[in-house]
Amino acid sequence: MPAPELALTERFQSAFAQAFGEEFRDADPIIRPSQFADFQCNAAMGLAKRVGAKPRDVAQQILDAVDLTGLAETPEIAGPGFLNIRLRTDWIGNQAAELAAPESHLGIPAPDHADTVAIDYSAPNVAKEMHVGHLRTTVVGDALARTLEKLGHTVVRQNHIGDWGTPFGMLIEHLLDVGEDGDEAKLLESDPNAFYQHARAKFDGDAAFADRARSRVVTLQAGDRQTLEIWTRLVELSKQYFHRIYDMLDVTLTDDDLAGESSYNDQLEIVAKQLEADGLARISDGALCVFPEGFIGRDEKPLPLIIRKSDGGYGYGTTDLAAIRHRIQDLRADRIAYVIGSAQELHMNMVFETAREAGWLTDDVEATHVKIGSVLGEDGKILRTRSGSSLRLMSLLEEAVQTARGVIDELRPDLPEDERAEIAHAVGIGGVKYADLSTAHDSDYVFDLERMLALTGNTAPYLQYAVARIRSISRRAAEQGIIAGPAPRVENDAERALALELLQFGPTLVQVGAAYEPHRLCAYLFSLAQAFTAFYDASPILKESDDEVRGGRLALAELTERVLVEGLDALGVRAPQRM
Ligand code: ARG
Repeated sequence: MPAPELALTERFQSAFAQAFGEEFRDADPIIRPSQFADFQCNAAMGLAKRVGAKPRDVAQQILDAVDLTGLAETPEIAGPGFLNIRLRTDWIGNQAAELAAPESHLGIPAPDHADTVAIDYSAPNVAKEMHVGHLRTTVVGDALARTLEKLGHTVVRQNHIGDWGTPFGMLIEHLLDVGEDGDEAKLLESDPNAFYQHARAKFDGDAAFADRARSRVVTLQAGDRQTLEIWTRLVELSKQYFHRIYDMLDVTLTDDDLAGESSYNDQLEIVAKQLEADGLARISDGALCVFPEGFIGRDEKPLPLIIRKSDGGYGYGTTDLAAIRHRIQDLRADRIAYVIGSAQELHMNMVFETAREAGWLTDDVEATHVKIGSVLGEDGKILRTRSGSSLRLMSLLEEAVQTARGVIDELRPDLPEDERAEIAHAVGIGGVKYADLSTAHDSDYVFDLERMLALTGNTAPYLQYAVARIRSISRRAAEQGIIAGPAPRVENDAERALALELLQFGPTLVQVGAAYEPHRLCAYLFSLAQAFTAFYDASPILKESDDEVRGGRLALAELTERVLVEGLDALGVRAPQRM
């Protein structure tokens, strides 16, 4: 709970115990932000029934009992029994001063328990293009990983890449045909879909090739050494491509985080055997299936999760079961999050339920499907190219940076070329990522570069501009020999409002990490930046003549800058020095 709400709750609960008896100590004082004051206590209406008195009289009794010394002014009773509370300005000032001290970590509390959190995110497929669907799972997953680390948890990133299965027979044969060092193989690093399609075309048009591809799958599955070597090369080349995208996106995933489908290959049989031994899996229509409890199809029949297909191949779900087992038993995860498309909700729920029935997913482990919505085009349909094929993520990102570059060139022709390029990257990529993150992760949104790169509204450029503006004030202050005061100044209304916003940072981050909701951090940062603008309009800094006032305001501005930058960093969005 944020500091003001926490302090008020404690004082009001003491008052409840004193006024109505010990059994009322735990009653919720219902402290909420108020239109008419800083906060209001809405408890009187609910307590009235329990106490057997009129709400306004209960409010008066609370008022008589509550001791707000040092924290707030005497509250006013309003309407049916609301208590309007104005915090003491010096109390807010003290809190802000504490927040500014290095040891407070901007109010990010140490966790009650440092969890190990395994996050499954990004998960592109080898020899395939990353598309806008992967943009969302990558960007949201990375923001959650960054946020949880800032909160003091241990994050184990799990990039569950698609690096196994039947298409690999055809991909390996094609790579063998064209040679690993040729131009065609280079496509894997630059335009993997082209490589895939060429292999596919041969597979469809050339019967001898198709035969080779089919027997190659068999040698691959059998673990043939030479085949595995070529497969490794194929994955290697694709990895270069993933990393080009991750670098471009400022995403923290590295090779160490790769835990592809292939890594569970030798676990699949063990998983199937145990499910059979436990009596959870049985043969149905030739396939080994589990029927997790509570999943009924439209035909009223239990829904199967396929473990082993009738041809002996293992299902996609089996890999997910092997993965969940690994994450709990080997990685010792307390929490597991899957940042995967909403469409896979049923699949994920069936995997979770099966893992519970098998005893792998225990009650002390929290498993969550962080459902990801779709990116839409202006027509409201899944974003595609004009010709109807899926959009290459790389071209989309390049376009964003280029568009941002155009804006910066116009806005700041005075800046050196390389700095303009850097800003364009931060704004273009940051704009795309932030637009994604500021939407609830399970909602769809329309991809609209103009809105994403706008300098107004809840956008990355608006926040980046707020940071750049404060940094420019700091630079000018330094030039003029102005030194920030020891503590942020909190006197006038705009300073108070800004300080109150700053106090919400730590608790907001905690909430984002617990509920996996980056859009709440975006909403917070937006309202913080707005509070800063209001403060700066009302309270000049460099133009202020009083040394103490000026120094205190500069300190408040610099604290705001630190919080904005830290918040953007939790989202994986860069803040340029100048804009
Ligand atoms: N590779 C899949 C795709 O690109 C996503 C995998 C999601 N992760 C998982 N554990 N099932 O669609």
